[in-house]
Amino acid sequence: MEPLKQILYGGDYNPEQWPRETWEEDMRMLKNAHINTLTLNVFSWALLQPDEDTFDFSLLDDIMDLAAASDMHVILATATAAVPPWISAKYPEVMRADKRGVRKRGGGRQNHCPTSADFRRLQLRLVEEIARRYSGRPEILYWHISNEYSGRCYCQSCEQAFHNWLRTKYKTVQAMNEAWNAAFWSHTYHDFDEVPVPGRLSDGMQGGKAVLPGLSLDYQRFMSDALLENFKAERDVIRKYDLHTPVTTNLMAGCGDLDYRKWAREMDVVSWDNYPARDTPASTIAFWHDLMRGIKDQKPFILMEQSPNQQNWMPYNYVKRPGQMKEMSYQTMAHGGDDILFFQMKQSRSGCEKFHGAVITHRGKEDSRAYQEVRSLGRELERLSCIRGAETPARAALLFDYESWWAINGNVGPSVLVGYPEETARWYKAMFDLQLDVDVIFWDSDFSRYDLIVAPLAYIARDDSVDKIRDFMEKGGIFVTTVLSGMADETDRIHLGGYPGLWRDLAGLWIDETDALEKGEKIPISLFNQEVQGSVLCDLIHPETATALGVYEKEFYAGTPAVTQNRTGKGRFIYCGTFLDESGMELLMRWLCRKAGIEAKAYAGVEKKTRVSDKGRFHFVMNQRREATPVDLSFEGTDLITGRHISGMVMLDPYQTMIIRENG
Ligand code: GLA
Ligand code: ZN
Repeated sequence: MEPLKQILYGGDYNPEQWPRETWEEDMRMLKNAHINTLTLNVFSWALLQPDEDTFDFSLLDDIMDLAAASDMHVILATATAAVPPWISAKYPEVMRADKRGVRKRGGGRQNHCPTSADFRRLQLRLVEEIARRYSGRPEILYWHISNEYSGRCYCQSCEQAFHNWLRTKYKTVQAMNEAWNAAFWSHTYHDFDEVPVPGRLSDGMQGGKAVLPGLSLDYQRFMSDALLENFKAERDVIRKYDLHTPVTTNLMAGCGDLDYRKWAREMDVVSWDNYPARDTPASTIAFWHDLMRGIKDQKPFILMEQSPNQQNWMPYNYVKRPGQMKEMSYQTMAHGGDDILFFQMKQSRSGCEKFHGAVITHRGKEDSRAYQEVRSLGRELERLSCIRGAETPARAALLFDYESWWAINGNVGPSVLVGYPEETARWYKAMFDLQLDVDVIFWDSDFSRYDLIVAPLAYIARDDSVDKIRDFMEKGGIFVTTVLSGMADETDRIHLGGYPGLWRDLAGLWIDETDALEKGEKIPISLFNQEVQGSVLCDLIHPETATALGVYEKEFYAGTPAVTQNRTGKGRFIYCGTFLDESGMELLMRWLCRKAGIEAKAYAGVEKKTRVSDKGRFHFVMNQRREATPVDLSFEGTDLITGRHISGMVMLDPYQTMIIRENG
């Protein structure tokens, strides 16, 4: 398909919830807000198919015709994210079973069992009808499969499918027992069919902890794969009728249920839904965007949903401050988002989302704050399509690993305070605060593009990780890792011989003990001779070839290293044995940037990011505060939003963004 020349702007529209005679006025209002794209048919299964033998597309035909007549692009969903009541009544086993094995009776959404044969048959029949009927309509620019895949099922069908998955993976039950160290607590299996799903009635402990981590990890892999099979099956049906239109499904960056790196390989383009809470730091949202760009090897993504104003499903649903929605949209673009879409176009009258923000609110007037801001952004985006497709010129990367997240979640010990996404987000923030362009990468990414790779809590270490890190360091790379890294194999057996396991020689040290601090407890550390704090975990580090960058100043291990460096050739391996506080991370990050030759500059309250293409070098400068904020720029050019020439010291209004195309 030709690359799009326009930024897609619009989002979820559910006219089926409204009388037919209101639709024309909706279209008029949406067009007037510069909206050019509608996401349709996300939750319409029950309307499209009233029973097993009947399909009725009259309503969707009408909606599609309306979109076409209104000159709207369409993102067409396959409508399979919520099982209709007639299916749950007729085929109860289509529904998911929870951790206690209790099957849902119907209702809700994201409610199907991924291995149910009846679901698969019904799902694909619907998709077949939709794809046959609508493929080739020029207004369809993307296919949107299901909606926000997530969760797990613990039913008997899934248990059986899990057994088959294990058979394929391990071939013999002995190999599986060994991989899981199943002799622990008398778990040795003599047949694959004896393996239970790790729910609450079997091996799953409260809070997602695992008795046999290998089993739990494999179940998580299996579930992610089983849901991915659902996605692929729909995609393949669409491909029978439509060879070219890109296929996606909307992801959730904060969701740890699925291995999105694996999913992204099956998606033509990544799309995701951004719903920050009031107190979500801008750095965390930035991290989510980079993660979503990263899973598809840094290709631009679609922002499939954000709220034009408030959400409704949080404990406290703040309204976005004047200018804030716009700023968040530009932040999305700054990190590689090429299309900006909302949930939703028109606020539902009832249902549990009746209080969710929308472009057209219950009052239905164009002078509402959200409508006006959507309209103003829409007007600006029409001037910015030159940015589409531009890349992020990052030299620093954060290494992310879904399996380490899963494994750390399942760990019983060493501390309940260890959270994988939280701690990786803190390391990301240290880079964010110094205005680094960052790529989120994975173990199978190309490391050679970077000078600095930060791999926090890289718990699962496969054998080939050693060579991969060594190659990177041989070319002068700096590899940074932390406590709880390099430790376990892919079924969570600890690598013996001392921590950080496989990476002991690379790190030039060994660790035999890790101290755990209580909540709020700190330990002073002298880092580059400055006083900072550590918390949560403290590795007792025994250096061999490593040297100390920082030392503990308290406890019986006072004077021993907390942060170390091991130099081999031009490369460096940095090991951080504790959870450094913000000032410690900043100090370390500044030092790392100096060593890596990466420019680091802090602008408080303002984020700066860059995208580059043959059309230019675009600097996004975003005031993320409610106050006017000054910033001193080291480049000059034209602000594409206002058309003004910008250089040196500038004052940004609250939530103002400049997108400066660099001169030269
Ligand atoms: C999700 C869903 C939407 C809607 C929004 C509300 O992202 O995909 O259908 O429920 O949340 O925030
Ligand atoms: Zn199931």
